[in-house]
Amino acid sequence: MKVETAQAMQELGARIAHVAQPGDALILTGELGAGKTTFAQGVARGLQITEHVTSPTFVMSKHYPSETQGLDLFHLDVYRVTTPDELLDLWSESDAQYGFTLVEWGAPWVTEFGESVAEMTIDSERNIDFIGHTEKGHALITRIQRQETAGR
Ligand SMILES: Nc1ncnc2c1ncn2[C@@H]1O[C@H](COP(=O)(O)OP(=O)(O)OP(=O)(O)O)[C@@H](O)[C@H]1O
Ligand SMILES: [Mg+2]
Repeated sequence: MKVETAQAMQELGARIAHVAQPGDALILTGELGAGKTTFAQGVARGLQITEHVTSPTFVMSKHYPSETQGLDLFHLDVYRVTTPDELLDLWSESDAQYGFTLVEWGAPWVTEFGESVAEMTIDSERNIDFIGHTEKGHALITRIQRQETAGR
């Protein structure tokens, strides 16, 4: 799938928010400016979170509580993380079990994000691909792909 505009990137995020389940984590992989934070803004909208989602680059981790009965959003940027211990300061499986976690630059840490981990890659032409890293991560990808083909 190719996502050509920032608006389309947000719409993709909003649709994926609708198929996310509690405890799911999606690693966002793509170069500087690929659209990772833009995607996260769309996810927040899909979760009906009205707080403005900004880049977590300097805070590294931001928790957006649900304003409805939906999922919380955990939005991380782990570019500067070098050890698993540092990750634990930013994210814990128990905190995130009722939320949806998005991790910019999380590819080196896929095994640290719980039972349900998938990855979305954005290449230089903004082609999007999905990889499941665990069984539940695969299930998330299946729900995403089902929804994307249904919407066409
Ligand atoms: N699919 C897209 N097509 C065109 N422009 C996009 C797309 N997605 C995002 N943009 C634009 O690209 C710029 C960078 O987006 P964004 O900040 O989301 O990238 P990022 O991957 O989070 O970057 P960083 O690596 O710095 O965190 C923004 O101006 C955004 O509006
Ligand atoms: Mg970003």
